Amino acid sequence: MPDLSTQYMGLKLKSPIIAASSGLTNSVKDIQEFEQMGIGAVVVKSIFEEEITWEMNKALNQTQRPSTIYPEIFDYFDIKDTEDAVSKYIKLINDAKQSTNIPIIGSINCVSSHEWPLFIDRIQDAGADALELNMFILPSDLTRNAEEFEKVYFESIEAAKKVAKIPISLKISYYFSSLGQFIKRLSETGIDGLVLFNRFYSPDVDINKMDVIPSNIYSNNTDITMPIRWIGLTSPIVKCDLAASTGVQSGEDVVKLLLVGAKAVQVASLFYRQGIKVLPKMTIDVLKWMEANKFNTIDEFRGKLSYNQTTNPAAFERTQFMKHFAGII
Ligand SMILES: Cc1cc2nc3c(=O)[nH]c(=O)nc-3n(C[C@H](O)[C@H](O)[C@H](O)COP(=O)(O)O)c2cc1C
Repeated sequence: MPDLSTQYMGLKLKSPIIAASSGLTNSVKDIQEFEQMGIGAVVVKSIFEEEITWEMNKALNQTQRPSTIYPEIFDYFDIKDTEDAVSKYIKLINDAKQSTNIPIIGSINCVSSHEWPLFIDRIQDAGADALELNMFILPSDLTRNAEEFEKVYFESIEAAKKVAKIPISLKISYYFSSLGQFIKRLSETGIDGLVLFNRFYSPDVDINKMDVIPSNIYSNNTDITMPIRWIGLTSPIVKCDLAASTGVQSGEDVVKLLLVGAKAVQVASLFYRQGIKVLPKMTIDVLKWMEANKFNTIDEFRGKLSYNQTTNPAAFERTQFMKHFAGII
């Protein structure tokens, strides 16, 4: 039987498949089920920077909304419900650690480098094995240039690294003007891992209700091409581990991402659609592929199809369809 274990950010995972941060990783019961089904690690649902800031300001006896809170956040959740969010979050990590034997990764959804780094102490004291920073600032402010947007990411990593004793990863989107170089520069900050990529609510239009509505929450199988391209291109040159996220729908997809150089593969939508019970089949499919291709360990094939190892590196850079569709159009 091939060995599925892998190292990610210095953590030993018995499987490269990680439960991505989502509503499915928000209870001890679900985290235990993930463990029983064979998950390698779980990233707990993100706590929002604004929830942390709110709690801290409350502790300082401030009655006004903290100045660092972005007003938009009140669209996302009712602040009254979040008053004990921080202690609940710490308890969730603590309970998950006590009742499972898999790595538990905390997650903070942040938009700045303000107060939340102080909260890292509590997350690591609760037993978290690592922390994922889920950062996304939509570059929709037309008065700020790319450099100003990107600066916040570097400041946040620096602030987190000052406090953290546990490994830190950063989960990013692909909305950057020079994505490959940005990934490379982030990896040189001393960060332990990068997660490529997060997937967000995107707008759609309802032509009957004449309204702008959220589009599909869940990814589909064509979305996997983004992490395939960018992990394939950057895994040979980055200075940290890469985990894949977005579009993974099967064990075959897990193999693809390992082949282009991922250390671990995160999954959310598939578990929403088919339930956590789909995990054993995914795992068996990875093992069967390894057996069929005579690989005993993941390290024997990881990165074999990355940019510097494939015989066809141009495939990662090709963007136009001219040659392929020449006979079709
Ligand atoms: C309902 C839902 C809730 C999510 N909540 C979070 C979250 O709290 N923090 C986070 O970093 N990502 C969150 N995500 C993003 C997932 O972790 C994942 O990165 C994204 O869905 C792409 O992976 P997938 O294609 O396997 O779904 C959420 C995704 C979904 C579908």
